Amino acid sequence: MMEAMELVAQSNGSEAGSKTGLRRHDMYRPVHKGLRNLMCDVLVRVGRMDAGDDAEAVATAGCLRDMLVLCRSHLHHENQFIHAAMESRHYGSAATTAGDHLHHEKSIEALEVRLRVLEHGNREARQAAAQAIYRDLALFVADNFQHMDVEETANNAVLWESHTDEELAAVHDALVASIPPEKMLTYLRWMVPAMAPDERVELLTGIRQNLPAEAFVGVLAVTKPGLAERDWHKLMAALGEMPLAA
Ligand SMILES: [Fe+2]
Repeated sequence: MMEAMELVAQSNGSEAGSKTGLRRHDMYRPVHKGLRNLMCDVLVRVGRMDAGDDAEAVATAGCLRDMLVLCRSHLHHENQFIHAAMESRHYGSAATTAGDHLHHEKSIEALEVRLRVLEHGNREARQAAAQAIYRDLALFVADNFQHMDVEETANNAVLWESHTDEELAAVHDALVASIPPEKMLTYLRWMVPAMAPDERVELLTGIRQNLPAEAFVGVLAVTKPGLAERDWHKLMAALGEMPLAA
């Protein structure tokens, strides 16, 4: 089996275009931009939370719980579809990031235990839980950022070496088809505002082609609050006249 890092090294060679991913199908980049956006948002929310304010503590706990649900579902999608594709062509090539995923599941469970204290404990217990969650969450985010970088370099190198873009698109299509519409809206809420304008237009143009107009308006509605006004206007200009005015 060709080592993943060896493939990365090769990708920096003269065949730059096809192996660096500049023109290759990248399953990781869009969703990882969204996850980085979500993780940063929730970490900052937890850090500034007034744990003595019942309503604020419950609301912040809800944001963290939603984040953990998405993180857990994301790693399951990667296990089921991306790692399976890697292993089918290069046995053992997904071992490193599969091991990371097991570690992340343990971290998520530990955060959920502290989260229950934040949701149901007395005020003193909540304040202690808030401080502990902030530190643990910062380490979880840091770990995830390093992990995602390995996926975007080493794992992509394996995928690009072993699959055509058509095959990768088929794997990605199957992954996306497995996500219920409600959960997909949550992913898009964080992904779309985190993307560069051209990436945003490309993604939404593709989604638009596969959705009834009403459902596409629903997608725009969940992404709009995360977009700066300038970005929203650029997006509307690129997509043409849309029924969603505000
Ligand atoms: Fe992952």
